[in-house]
Amino acid sequence: MAVDIVNNDFSDIMFDRHATKVLDRNFKIPRDEILEMIAQATTAPSAVDSQPWRFIVVDTDEGKQKLESFMWAADRGRIEGSSASAIIMADTGWPEYIDTIFLRNRAEYNWSDEYLQLFRKVTSEWVMGLTKEELELSVTFQAGLVSMQLMLVARAHGYETGPMDAFTKEGLAKAFGLDEDRYKPVLVIGIGKGEGFASTSRRAPQDVTDFA
Ligand SMILES: Cc1cc2nc3c(=O)[nH]c(=O)nc-3n(C[C@H](O)[C@H](O)[C@H](O)COP(=O)(O)O)c2cc1C
Repeated sequence: MAVDIVNNDFSDIMFDRHATKVLDRNFKIPRDEILEMIAQATTAPSAVDSQPWRFIVVDTDEGKQKLESFMWAADRGRIEGSSASAIIMADTGWPEYIDTIFLRNRAEYNWSDEYLQLFRKVTSEWVMGLTKEELELSVTFQAGLVSMQLMLVARAHGYETGPMDAFTKEGLAKAFGLDEDRYKPVLVIGIGKGEGFASTSRRAPQDVTDFA
């Protein structure tokens, strides 16, 4: 994997990330670099390596206008003001392609037949035990993991990010040419050049932790 990282300071990347509302609308992130960031972000773990996510990167005027129409009032204008916005979708259809992933893993990492069969067995037992709601919850959670990684990877590339949940989910996948029953929008992340600044505090660890 080519690594175009300009900031490799973990502490800075992690602790100086701030949700950034204002991004330089005139700066264009090269699409190759966006794909590289996605490749890096998708090192995120996923259940049985299912990788149940899909990215729609909105970086054209037409795309921005379309996405903007789904944003609620509080965040309106932020899409047109970003270099690019990534819509992160959770993919409930991963059982369709999981075997392709397994076969590739077998080829690349010399999985034995027994190991392949074990993954297939565990996966089918797990999928068959999930209700539709549980499947959606599972993929939504995993799309959250990759979203977080994307925000940190963007900082490693010298960009700031602004996550946004205030948008209408219904109709969004369809508007961008995807099957609405399969793809569930999770988050929109504005990415670009900007100044992030600290403006929030956190609850104390003692208040959110129990030891048992
Ligand atoms: C899932 C999620 C949804 C969010 N939605 C919005 C949003 O719709 N609009 C907004 O301005 N900020 C949104 N934020 C940003 C949060 O307000 C921000 O992350 C939080 O206040 C903590 O600030 P920090 O990220 O700068 O540490 C969202 C963040 C997350 C993780």
